[in-house]
Amino acid sequence: MKRQLEEIREIAEKELVQVENMNQLEEFRVRLLGKKGLLTQVLRGMGKLSKEERPEIGKLANEVRSEVERRLDEQKDLLKTKENNIRLDKERIDVTLPGKKKRIGNRHPLTLVLDEIKEIFLGMGFSSVEGPEVELSYYNFDALNVPENHPARDLQDTFYFNEDLVLRTQTSPMQVRTMENNKPPIRVIVPGRVYRCDEIDATHSPVFHQIEGLIVDKNITMGDLKGSLDIFAKRLFGENTKTRFRPHQFYFTEPSAEMDVSCFACGGEGCRVCGDEGWIEILGCGMVHPNVLKNCSIDPKVYSGFAFGMGLDRITMIKYDIDDLRLLFENDLRFLKQFK
Ligand code: DAH
Repeated sequence: MKRQLEEIREIAEKELVQVENMNQLEEFRVRLLGKKGLLTQVLRGMGKLSKEERPEIGKLANEVRSEVERRLDEQKDLLKTKENNIRLDKERIDVTLPGKKKRIGNRHPLTLVLDEIKEIFLGMGFSSVEGPEVELSYYNFDALNVPENHPARDLQDTFYFNEDLVLRTQTSPMQVRTMENNKPPIRVIVPGRVYRCDEIDATHSPVFHQIEGLIVDKNITMGDLKGSLDIFAKRLFGENTKTRFRPHQFYFTEPSAEMDVSCFACGGEGCRVCGDEGWIEILGCGMVHPNVLKNCSIDPKVYSGFAFGMGLDRITMIKYDIDDLRLLFENDLRFLKQFK
């Protein structure tokens, strides 16, 4: 029995160091210390021993058990360290490798100019609101005093869903919606997408962008219109910018005008940007027509207002000297990246 115990001790001493992984280690433990293990077998035979032998063998058995346990623990630690090192080795990061660059995006030129224009009008006390792109033809035309037979209603110009529903051809319908839902004083700008049945070329697209403006209050005059839009032009194109107003005709304003700004590139001398004119047309405007006010249940004897509408795409093209409208819609990164 003594010899058997010594054997167990020897096995632990010699073979344990060859154990290579945790599974083998567990097998080894079961083989020596498990319920059917070598040591248990020896202890089972203790009953047959004489009274004198028993304490001696018992003591030895305990020694062997704790020695085997100690060696198992040691080997376990060793294996753990080894496994850890292998893992660390695999997960090693080469901090000297060059990183992957993340390109920080930038705003689209239309957004840049829109933000700039918004900023100017917000500073003048306007708020910015948006409206539906699918619009009742009532709001797009009738309520804006556009007569039944007006060419703007033409099938060729307008995308109709049916007689009553269109893709809005202008942001002006939001004038009516705003006046229906708010009491004066009203001061809003309305940026948004508009649609017309146009062929695509360097200056036309079936989808483009407008910014509408509307003020309604007591005692609003043409003087307010000119003053406000002149300040707007100076903020957007530079303090030396001059403005001029040419009479024009819109159904929903009376009187109506188009506003030109002196060319910011040549200062009015005439150049490529202004087509040798010295002036660039940038918006339509006018005093809100009494019929439109009436359509919105606002009394034209008490209130008056002015409105304006500009093409965001056109202004962006002028500002950044872009010669083809399509560049704004094609999403070519080589183009878009230039607007930091
Ligand atoms: N809606 C007009 C257009 O699309 C632009 C316009 C002109 C808007 C005069 C206005 C305005 O508010 O007063 O051509």
